[in-house]
Amino acid sequence: MSATVRAAVMREVGTPLRIEEITLPAPGPNQVRVRMAATGVCHSDLSLARGTLAQPVPAVLGHEGAGRVIEVGDGVRGLRIGDAVLLNWSPPCRGCWWCTHGEPYLCPRAGDSATVAYARLGDGAELFPGLGVAAFATETVVAEAACIPIPADIDIEQAALLGCAVLTGVGAVIHAAAVAPGDSVAVIGLGGVGLCAVQGARIAGASVIIAVDGAPDKADLARRLGATDALEPGPDLGKRIRALTDGRGVDHAIECVGRADTIRTAWSVTRRGGQATIVGLGAKSDTLTFNALEVAHFARTLRGSMYGNADAAVDIPVLLEHVRSGRLDLAALVTRRIGLDDVENAFAEMAAGQGARSLIVFEGR
Ligand code: APR
Ligand code: ZN
Repeated sequence: MSATVRAAVMREVGTPLRIEEITLPAPGPNQVRVRMAATGVCHSDLSLARGTLAQPVPAVLGHEGAGRVIEVGDGVRGLRIGDAVLLNWSPPCRGCWWCTHGEPYLCPRAGDSATVAYARLGDGAELFPGLGVAAFATETVVAEAACIPIPADIDIEQAALLGCAVLTGVGAVIHAAAVAPGDSVAVIGLGGVGLCAVQGARIAGASVIIAVDGAPDKADLARRLGATDALEPGPDLGKRIRALTDGRGVDHAIECVGRADTIRTAWSVTRRGGQATIVGLGAKSDTLTFNALEVAHFARTLRGSMYGNADAAVDIPVLLEHVRSGRLDLAALVTRRIGLDDVENAFAEMAAGQGARSLIVFEGR
């Protein structure tokens, strides 16, 4: 049946999100309704809210969520009412060229649901789901394919982070960069995603993990999660990083900000023949340049990474094992537990580089 629920609604790009009642339809074929337990506030939400990334409006953002299935549509086979699930904002179709060639994270159909209205505002206007899952709401309706089961021994609130920051940050290090034991790694940008990249580098066995962020409160957290060194950016950053790597630069730089200047930094601090892996998503208008000598001369690889170059269905269970064994610390990533009506404050703090993840925790779950 249809349901009236509370959501943080973005009426226009660049205007504050406001709490409104919205109407969710009954789940259609192969869809489920999920009551949210928790949703992390990710920089991609801020980028969608401010117009750095494109978003049809009105919309409900939020894509790093977990909750419980409370209603199932026709044809749902793998989920039952009461199941704990986390949301996959990029569910692959499993049939296209990319999906059948081992690159489901590049499936061109994975973003389809974000382009289709999923609910209605109080006045009846159609509402779009941010990144297809609309998790800044007490409930949402998503495809069964966008749900990944959470085992009973895993904290459902913390599990929300697995759906974006963890899969993206750890996956970039393990899959896109393929960091090997003994490698040196620099992580640029220590938000939720970058702190997961630091943990991924530690899991991969990197011997030197240099954490770089302009906000000073990030250094302690990064060290706790595995960084061997913490540096602030500046004109001599390359020199300071070379001093920590026998004069060469790092084998791997992982950029987790999403700006041309930090992508350039990641490139510059990488050793000759090394690899800079770009995780951050920035604006189309923010461009970077290379001179015609340096690309061949440094023989570096510049590689992009989407959603951790991961297959959530395969990789989430691996990440859950890391959580169980204590190799992956989800609790440390949550620097604030907030209510749904605090999203704008969380955006402001994120824009100021404060804290790691703000986690919206829903009541009455
Ligand atoms: N050098 C180093 N760090 C910087 C710089 C800079 N010039 N500018 C900003 N930062 C830091 C901020 O201080 C902050 O700690 O980058 C971090 C970004 O963290 P968040 O805003 O929490 O972003 P996060 O959610 O981790 O996402 C990072 O990955 O998936 C993408 O769209 C996402 O582009 C975003 C990136
Ligand atoms: Zn995200």
